[in-house]
Amino acid sequence: MKIFILAENGQLGWELCRTLAPLGEVYASDYPQVDLQKPETIINLIRLEKPAIFVNAAAYTAVDQAETEHEKARSINASGPGILAEECKRIGAVFIHYSTDYVFDGNKGVPYLENDATAPLNFYGQSKLEGEQLVQQAGGDYLIFRTSWVYSMRGQGGFIAKVLQWSRQQETLRMVTDQIGNPTWARMLAETTAHIAARGQGYMSERKGLYHLAGSGFASRLEWAKEILELDLNRHEQKTKELLPAKTADFPTPAERPLFSALDCSKFESTFNLKLPDWRTALRLAMQ
Ligand SMILES: NC(=O)c1ccc[n+]([C@@H]2O[C@H](COP(=O)([O-])OP(=O)(O)OC[C@H]3O[C@@H](n4cnc5c(N)ncnc54)[C@H](OP(=O)(O)O)[C@@H]3O)[C@@H](O)[C@H]2O)c1
Repeated sequence: MKIFILAENGQLGWELCRTLAPLGEVYASDYPQVDLQKPETIINLIRLEKPAIFVNAAAYTAVDQAETEHEKARSINASGPGILAEECKRIGAVFIHYSTDYVFDGNKGVPYLENDATAPLNFYGQSKLEGEQLVQQAGGDYLIFRTSWVYSMRGQGGFIAKVLQWSRQQETLRMVTDQIGNPTWARMLAETTAHIAARGQGYMSERKGLYHLAGSGFASRLEWAKEILELDLNRHEQKTKELLPAKTADFPTPAERPLFSALDCSKFESTFNLKLPDWRTALRLAMQ
């Protein structure tokens, strides 16, 4: 089975390159070799390689910057994926795509279901929502997994690296308690994607649709940070003595974030008979 992975260097794409490798011939690429703002650079490769599965882990994920870069965010998160999904339909490939909890406004108060009304508060969420719609409208076989608070142990830009870095510098850390989501380890998303892909094209097309897929349970940013500090293998390097609660309003950002955007993943679990572990379990596995 031929599999094309877009964004081999992203948090999720990097893990996908590893979890999908045993399934067949994997072809992976990333920006700038290919560019979702110029979909023809990818279409040529799709026509050449004719994959059975195309996994799109690319996205414009700079949430605050998206407020001023509408056109770029829209072409990478919406029109580009729409065009790729159309091309996959043409060659009979399954298009696997990821979306975000930021399609919701965070006012529901209990975890969101797939058919709850969307109302993005920021342009990143808006562009990802448009991407979902265009992938669905393409009319081919697709799986869209809406996920949340994705982290990986690579790189210095993610939440875990930042918390660990701040803990080496500051005696007091202030973390928000009013932003709640599902911390999701990129490895677990990639493992789950591989389990599903291994069941074959027919299995996936029978279950085509949009699903919530995120770490089980939910946490505030403060609870997540507390767990990170406790699991830190080099705790002796920490300078932080206290972790204090703060409000989102204390840290103004260009893009508004939903406050309670936890996802209910029961539709995914019953359809695929798979479940991501509790977020604390996954975090322990990631940080060990
Ligand atoms: N991170 C989160 O907290 C989170 C939460 C919910 C949903 N998601 C979704 O989960 C998926 C994976 O996210 P992630 O965290 O793995 O993102 P990521 O680490 O930011 O990776 C995004 C990848 O997309 C590539 N990319 C950017 N612009 C591109 C372009 N014009 N053409 C082709 N590739 C381009 C990036 O390349 P460069 O690095 O070279 O720019 C990078 O490899 C995305 O669909 C995202 O929307 C993420």
